[in-house]
Amino acid sequence: MIRTPVCDLLGIEHPVALGGLGGGHTRPELVAAVSEAGGFGAQGCHGMNVAQIGEAAATLRGMTNRPFALNFLLFHCNEEQFDAGVAEKPAAIAIAWPRPDQDLKPYIARAHDAGCKVTLMAGGVPEALRGAEAGADVIIAQGTEGGGHVSWMATMALTPMVVDAVAPIPVLAAGGIADGRGLAAALALGADGVLLGTRFLATPEAPLHPNFKQAIVESDGHDTMLTEIPDIASGTVWPGAMSRAARNRFVERWAGREWQLRQHQADLYKGVLAARKSGDRDEATLSYGQDAGLIHDIVPAGEVVRHIVAEAEAILKDRLPGLVR
Ligand SMILES: Cc1cc2nc3c(=O)[nH]c(=O)nc-3n(C[C@H](O)[C@H](O)[C@H](O)COP(=O)(O)O)c2cc1C
Repeated sequence: MIRTPVCDLLGIEHPVALGGLGGGHTRPELVAAVSEAGGFGAQGCHGMNVAQIGEAAATLRGMTNRPFALNFLLFHCNEEQFDAGVAEKPAAIAIAWPRPDQDLKPYIARAHDAGCKVTLMAGGVPEALRGAEAGADVIIAQGTEGGGHVSWMATMALTPMVVDAVAPIPVLAAGGIADGRGLAAALALGADGVLLGTRFLATPEAPLHPNFKQAIVESDGHDTMLTEIPDIASGTVWPGAMSRAARNRFVERWAGREWQLRQHQADLYKGVLAARKSGDRDEATLSYGQDAGLIHDIVPAGEVVRHIVAEAEAILKDRLPGLVR
């Protein structure tokens, strides 16, 4: 059994967390499956109104007594949405992507007052320090290999830098991690555990069109790129993020012609939404990480957690000690 301080802090068995994937990429079935398996589930609340946040929390409570997080993109959520999440008193409020001018302290203080821990996602050391100084309990060091919105630093370099910068605050490594080798490596880098997005998208519980799950399984991990095209298409300006998305026909069509995509955004986005609904892999925007190349099957989320932990344990107990003379 692998136990790190973050397990006690969050009240979980295994140091494996689900990223709070927003925009309809998580649902209570997925979150509860991760928490029930002893990991740390997180419901992405990006795109949900106050009533939907309450419903998701209530549904989750009906599915698991285990701890979970509610995730908010700070630049995009309003005070009512954030406070609706805090009022649910989840084990943690997970925050990501604040605007540069947003003061984190009042958000973190409100979560703490409600008895929640706070995790903050950081794509660089300055963001990690900002979260640590504002009182975050856990920092997620998110590398550029990951799916969705990321920064430019790679997980391998970023994780130990963040660990050093925010010690003794525990760090979870994210970005490009999909198996026990990734967990063992993250622990060796000084992290307390891992947070995964792409691996959990390829599970029966993920609310993704089956064609998109299949795209992850079929990907060799070399077919993604950092691009602003998905955000330009949806008309959402992120505070300094790029999106790691599949380099599909839609993205290739607009690469280098982003100005024209912006000009016809409203009409073109209707097409993207239709493609998302019908499962058209070429015309939807599709976010996944380079670790798609490590994902070869669609397996239940609980099994993902158990497999990662068992594989990491075997590496730490059997392979690594044998290398030390
Ligand atoms: C489709 C998708 C949506 C995401 N949405 C969010 C979000 O709303 N909030 C958040 O903190 N992270 C979000 N992430 C990032 C994940 O939390 C995590 O950092 C990332 O997936 C880790 O890299 P991996 O995909 O290689 O596991 C998203 C990732 C993906 C793939």
